[in-house]
Order: sequence, then C-alpha cells, then structure tokens
Amino acid sequence: MSHIYASFRSIGAYVPKKILSNADLEKMVDTTDEWIVKRTGIKKRHIAAQDEYTSDMAAKASALALERSGISTDEIDLVLCATVTPDYFNMPSTACVISDKLGIKDVQAFDISAACSGFVYLLSIARAFIESGMKKNVLIVGAEKFSSIVDYTDRSTCILFGDGAGAAVISATDNPKEAIIDIHASADGAYADFLVTPAPGSINPASQKVIDEGLQYVQMKGNETFKLAVKTLTKDVKEILEKNRINAEDILHFIPHQANYRIIKAVGDALKMKEEQVVLTVGKYGNTSAASIPMAINDIWESGRLQTGELMLLDTFGGGLTWASALLPFAGKSK
Ligand code: ACO
Repeated sequence: MSHIYASFRSIGAYVPKKILSNADLEKMVDTTDEWIVKRTGIKKRHIAAQDEYTSDMAAKASALALERSGISTDEIDLVLCATVTPDYFNMPSTACVISDKLGIKDVQAFDISAACSGFVYLLSIARAFIESGMKKNVLIVGAEKFSSIVDYTDRSTCILFGDGAGAAVISATDNPKEAIIDIHASADGAYADFLVTPAPGSINPASQKVIDEGLQYVQMKGNETFKLAVKTLTKDVKEILEKNRINAEDILHFIPHQANYRIIKAVGDALKMKEEQVVLTVGKYGNTSAASIPMAINDIWESGRLQTGELMLLDTFGGGLTWASALLPFAGKSK
C-alpha cells in the first residue's frame, strides 16, 4: 500500500469592507500615523460590521477555498477553526457554526485556541488526521473578529489588530511531491501573561467588575513580546530549514505572521532573505491573529505570485505563548 501524504490544495480569504485607517485612529486615541507606521508598518486594517461574526467571515473564506480546491462539501470529513474571538466563548464551537453555514453535515468539527499560531497548529492537526488515514479532506480556517476584544481607548493595542479570515483545504495524496514536508509547533505557558484576555473565563466569569475594569479586552506586554518574537521566529526557521536540509535562498515564499513590519524585517534579515522572498501584508490588514498567515497566502495566490509546486515557509508566534513553522509546497492550482 502506498504511503498517504497530506497536501495543501487551495486557499481562500475574506476581509470585511470597513477600513480603519491610521487617520481614523488619530481621532480616537493619542497617536499619529507617523508613530504607527514607523513602529509597526501598519497603515490600515479592516473591521467587521457589528452584525458580521467570526463564523460569517470564516464561511466566506471557506467557500472560496472549497471552490478553488475542486472538492465538494460532501467530501469534507473534518472542519477545524482556529480563533481567539469565537462566535461564542464556550459553546457551540465556531467550527460547528461554520459547518452549518456551509451545509457540511455529519462530520467532526472543533475549534482550537493558539492565538496567532492557530493556522499552523491546524495544519499540523489536519496532517496528523490525514497521514493516519482517519480523514481525507480537511477544511481548516483561521478567523478573527479581533475588534470584538480590542479596547479602542488603549493606544498600545488598538492600532495593531484587524479582522478577517483565511481558509484552506488539506487533502490526502499519494504523490510525495505534493506532501507537506515538515511542521514544528510548540508552546511555553510560562509566558502566558505576555498576551492575555482576562475575561470571560473560569477565573473571571462575566460580572459588573469585568466590565468596570475592562477585563474582556486583550492586554499585551508589547515590548517583551516583540523581543521574544524575533528570537523565537528566527530560531524556529533556522531549525526547520536545517533539519530538512533546505537553504533559506531556496524558499520562494517566506510567509511570516503579520504582527509588525519590524519583527518581519528583523527575522528576514537574520535569515538573509531577499525582499522578494518575504510576503508582507501587515501594512494593509494589521495583525489578524489566526487569519494572518492564510490571508497572506491568499494574497500571493490571487496576485498570481504563488504557483503550483512552489515552496512555502510559514512561521508564526502568538499568545500562549505559542509558535510554529511549516515547510510545504503549494499543491493547488495556480490562478
Ligand atoms: N502612539 C503613540 N505612542 C505610543 C503608542 C501609540 N499608538 N503606543 C505606545 N506608545 C508609546 C508608549 O506609551 C511608550 O511611551 P513612553 O516611552 O513614554 O513610555 C512608547 O510609545 C514606546 O512604547 P513601547 O511599547 O516600548 O513601543 P514598541 O517600540 O515596543 O512598540 C508595539 C509597541 C508596536 C506594540 C511592539 O512592541 C510590538 O509590535 N510588539 C509585538 C506584538 C506581537 O508580535 N504580538 C504577538 C502576536 S499577537 C497575538 O498573538 C494575538
């Protein structure tokens, strides 16, 4: 019997219509376009409408990924969603809601929480299910309505985040050239307080105190996170490249998590990557957490930059703390 591999079949993304520019933020908090661009590279971000939910954005991105994969909803046998801004904080999972919105019936569906590393975490789960023979076609979605947990009076966080969704279909193949080559995913809870949304949860269930103290909003130790992100991302990429005997210059598409241009630049420079190898979308979308990497992959696919068989290197870092990297060819059709 031939070996079963997991392959990355297609990509889709969705960004909400409304744009929140740096000029808009200048009117809301004590900041300037100059500060935001210089410190983060972000010029604008998209914000979901009040009645547009994480599952709505996820379903739209997924519908595109499904259409581009040539695989019908009937053939999907697992639906996974990575999000820290689910439709509901405990149940039902956003993956269940997405399945219903797409008309995917009677399949396993669940969410994971790994903040910005969520999409690459999902890739590792989809791969394990497929290579073990348990599933054949897995829909994975990174989706965030991050604006729902941002305090728009806190200038240190509100300038960073945006909303959006990205989805991919991961399928079984017997062609080793299409196979996901390697994934590394890890975590260290000792840094849990670097990025935290204190409520609602078992520590701080919903209460007047939660509202009064704004504990439902994301809190970040920005500077400490920044330093650790650069160090961890660089180390992680070096390790996965070395392990697989691949040189950084052979990577056509380095797709890092889009949190801050300065982080991406520092990591790219440490790896001696050329500008054209590094995918950059942070300027127009801001940090969309679990949606950031699939949205970036979608961008290069839609612009015709990502072709069948081309090697991608994904690298991400986020709350938990969590981090992950992946080496894989794009096994879908070029645009
Ligand atoms: N406008 C103007 N000034 C500001 C703003 C703002 N929007 N925000 C902060 N400042 C001020 C601070 O108050 C501080 O002033 P002080 O020196 O008088 O105290 C000064 O700017 C410097 O603040 P720092 O926080 O040290 O600035 P830094 O250069 O670190 O940039 C930033 C902040 C952009 C948040 C950066 O630290 C960063 O990008 N961190 C990493 C984010 C990240 O990667 N997160 C992980 C993924 S996210 C996830 O998992 C959901």
